[in-house]
Amino acid sequence: MATIVSGMRPTGNLHLGHLHGALKNWLRLQESYQCFFFVADWHALTTDYATPQGIQESGLEMMKDWLSVGLDPKRCVIFRQSAVKQHAELHLLLSMITPVPWLERNPTYKEQIREIVGKDLSTYGFLGYPVLQAADIVMYKAHKVPVGADQAPHLELTREIVRRFNQFYGQIFPEPEVLLTEIPKVPGLDGRKMSKSYGNAVFLTDSPKEIDRKLSRMMTDPARVRRQDPGEPEKCPAFNLHKIYCTPDEIDYVSKGCRTAGIGCLDCKKIMIKHVVEELQPFQEKRAGYDRRPGDAEDALSAGNRAAQEKAAETMEQVRSAVGL
Ligand code: TRP
Ligand code: SF4
Repeated sequence: MATIVSGMRPTGNLHLGHLHGALKNWLRLQESYQCFFFVADWHALTTDYATPQGIQESGLEMMKDWLSVGLDPKRCVIFRQSAVKQHAELHLLLSMITPVPWLERNPTYKEQIREIVGKDLSTYGFLGYPVLQAADIVMYKAHKVPVGADQAPHLELTREIVRRFNQFYGQIFPEPEVLLTEIPKVPGLDGRKMSKSYGNAVFLTDSPKEIDRKLSRMMTDPARVRRQDPGEPEKCPAFNLHKIYCTPDEIDYVSKGCRTAGIGCLDCKKIMIKHVVEELQPFQEKRAGYDRRPGDAEDALSAGNRAAQEKAAETMEQVRSAVGL
């Protein structure tokens, strides 16, 4: 069975963007691959080193979300990166062979240095972010890594590091392939990409009332100023959610109604909101169970940590001997 590795930085509450962008894909993958999914808490430190309070707790909250959407610890190994110290050792060894210019020309690095203001990212750790990510991936000898397109440059770096490592020390690691996630566009309430930091997210834990309140105010086709103005669904951010959530008949109905000004935006959205609320209901019931018994999520995480440690210990024995240590 081929091996899959993917991680997510603990950002607190997960939202619809995470659900459709990554988690649904992970759920499918756990059926047919040996999967390792982890909380990338060390990666969170590369940007939030000055305010690390909350990283630990966010990790556990994220774990509860993962379990509640249906990631199954019997099927996949779910763990916390910082619980498997071998990642740090492998990161160190990979850093020995990684040329600094490879890291400096990484487009994600250049973009983030430019865009994230208010944090000093001129650190050694932040430059080395992709080296740590490479260690995460090759530790489990992953064949495929499911990530969004924004992570493709990091995966390319991982492959380059693997090739270099194998040239020096022998064929230890497979070259992992990127498994680009077909991400349905999940716009936030303001039409920009859904993101906690933009304040435009619908969280998986939002109550039905909260979901209704948020989505009722979501941006629509700006051309529909008044009720009698016809609109164009393809220019409407909310309609992207219809495309994810509604039946073909419903999509047909609202598209026609929009273009002819036959229905108002609120009625149109109601049809979609109902599906969002319904989809999240079973999740929220499970989630409430984990909140009542946080020990369950902690236990699942500990068991996953042990399973990951075992595999990591095996890989590192091979690596140390290949490097001559
Ligand atoms: N960099 C990834 C992100 O921001 C998170 C991540 C860390 C990751 N290590 C990984 C993803 C290994 C895939 C594989 O989304
Ligand atoms: Fe968007 Fe529906 Fe309003 Fe058209 S009617 S602009 S699709 S919310």
